[in-house]
Amino acid sequence: MKETTEELIISYDRMKEQIEKELISVYDREGAVDLASPQISFEKGTTRISFGAQPITAGMLVDFLAVIKRYIAHVRVHSFDSGYYAFQAMNKNLFKTENMLDNFKVEFFVLSASSKVEISKKGNLTQEEINLVIELFQQARASARQDPAYRLKLLGASIVEPDKDLDWDYIAGYDEVKRKIRESIILPIRNPGVYDSIARMTRKVYEPNRPRAILFDGAPGVGKTTAARIIAGEADIPLVYVPIESIMSKWYGQSSQNLSQIFDASEDMGGSIIFLDEIDSLAGSRDQNMFEATRQILSVLLRRLDGIDTAASTITIGATNRKDDLDHALISRFDQTIYFPLPNATERAAIFSNYAKHLAEAESFNLGEKSEGLSGRTIKDICEFTERRWARKVLIKSLEPTAPPFEFYKQTLRMWNETK
Ligand SMILES: Nc1ncnc2c1ncn2[C@@H]1O[C@H](COP(=O)(O)OP(=O)(O)OP(=O)(O)O)[C@@H](O)[C@H]1O
Ligand SMILES: [Mg+2]
Repeated sequence: MKETTEELIISYDRMKEQIEKELISVYDREGAVDLASPQISFEKGTTRISFGAQPITAGMLVDFLAVIKRYIAHVRVHSFDSGYYAFQAMNKNLFKTENMLDNFKVEFFVLSASSKVEISKKGNLTQEEINLVIELFQQARASARQDPAYRLKLLGASIVEPDKDLDWDYIAGYDEVKRKIRESIILPIRNPGVYDSIARMTRKVYEPNRPRAILFDGAPGVGKTTAARIIAGEADIPLVYVPIESIMSKWYGQSSQNLSQIFDASEDMGGSIIFLDEIDSLAGSRDQNMFEATRQILSVLLRRLDGIDTAASTITIGATNRKDDLDHALISRFDQTIYFPLPNATERAAIFSNYAKHLAEAESFNLGEKSEGLSGRTIKDICEFTERRWARKVLIKSLEPTAPPFEFYKQTLRMWNETK
């Protein structure tokens, strides 16, 4: 009986229908999956089916092979170069190699950010082979679900890649803020053992004493998000960036458990820094008319920050520019607030020199004096605006390109102050 099902050749249309049906059910369950969508074709007498997958690791390859071996007794390794692996079914008679290249074949193309699985065979597939394709697809999905980075992406969060051009020098001034970040975030993350051993010496009942949650508070444009990106490069653990505002709209109508899953995925990476940007979207006191979804997300967050559901290796940073409007229960969960003030005159001068390095010290100083109340972002905008104005002038007057003169910066700043 088994022999006959194995040999049962299925028409192309019936095969396509079966495979598509199986894939659609996965998409329905998991929502949009941002890997290359499956392709099914029949060209020059060959059936070809391909789909996108996670970058294939050695472990995943073993899992795929286990699936293949369950269906095909004798498989030949066709290629085992790094980045390209191919496995081919052998003929029933193992000693006969004729037309073997027409047999069922599975190829894995591994790229840096994704990979592709391609199945091909001359002629139509048998029912067993169709089942194998479906199982390979399911295996690829199962591996993806285990990959924390991929899970985070599906949830609207992302892992910030360290940027080697971005370090603390990029932020002019703010020595006090930088010191606090170094002491309360970077040091504990880099030396967890020291903190733990002290806690073991002091506590009757051991509890980790590392800071778990820190709030970045400050006006718009003072470098809170930029600081998070710099921390990503300095810490030896991944920084998970969670833009609360945008994920809330993305999850509209969905369960607040998504936030919980972000925490879970972050912990599956063996510790991480979770940066919750713009938590102002959770503002509003709880007794006011808060949206149900917001209320639920807030309650998940409160629980996670309490640390009951959270591994000790995770540090959460929240950023806000409306601390006073935040829920009091939420504020109380943060061990420490790092306040990012607006830059003082010296710092404003330094920010001007960061974005207009050709100016003389006295010139930056002058601009710094005249820009009271402006944030780093506004100063950067003023410098960019000045460059564009100057570029237009250079073009119109057919001048050799030079850096904008001091006068131009002064003018832009004056215009800015007047329209304020
Ligand atoms: N002290 C500074 N030195 C240099 N650049 C700065 C400084 N402060 C801010 N900037 C620049 O301003 C821009 C905005 O900063 P960032 O996005 O980090 O601000 P933010 O505090 O997160 O603001 P928001 O609250 O609006 O999210 C960045 O491009 C950053 O480089
Ligand atoms: Mg920001």
